[in-house]
Amino acid sequence: MRRSGRIALFAWVLLLAGSLLFVTLRQPAAGPWRVPPEAARRVNPEPDTAPVRAAGRELYREHCKRCHGESGRGDGPDAVRGSVRMPDFTNLERMTEQSDGELFYKITVGRRPMPGYRRRLTESQRWQLVRFLRTLAAAPTQSAEPRP
Ligand code: HEC
Repeated sequence: MRRSGRIALFAWVLLLAGSLLFVTLRQPAAGPWRVPPEAARRVNPEPDTAPVRAAGRELYREHCKRCHGESGRGDGPDAVRGSVRMPDFTNLERMTEQSDGELFYKITVGRRPMPGYRRRLTESQRWQLVRFLRTLAAAPTQSAEPRP
């Protein structure tokens, strides 16, 4: 191959790699967060009582507040800015359309940059957190009917 041919090829490869990198970085971090239907259908085994919600609040303060904020608006000191939008737990509509099982699943597996809590918290602690999250919306929300 002639020298100019090699240079042209090299330029092409560079351009291609560059645009691939650009596309990857530009991609929104995440599309809709899909929860497997069997996970969404799970029913919260923790009773909806004041002590359970209080336990959830303690866990929230310890593990979640730094990102999700005291009131759940997504305005904690470590809240993630940029391509990932912090969810707003006070958003009645958003909270009403999710089942307890969906929230539990998301807390369990996490999604970058949010860590998963499968190992950090017990199952019942994660369900207690779900009970607490439901107190943050303007009016307390209830689990959505699991989708068929
Ligand atoms: C490092 C910051 C960070 C921490 C700590 C964190 N989260 Fe998150 N959380 C996020 C981000 C960012 C998202 C959005 C993720 C996405 O949509 O891809 C999120 C999403 C969620 C969602 C999904 C909300 C929805 O409507 O889809 C729930 C539920 C949740 N977090 C609960 C918790 C709980 C409970 C804790 C503590 C045990 C916690 N998070 C700790 C950053 C964090």
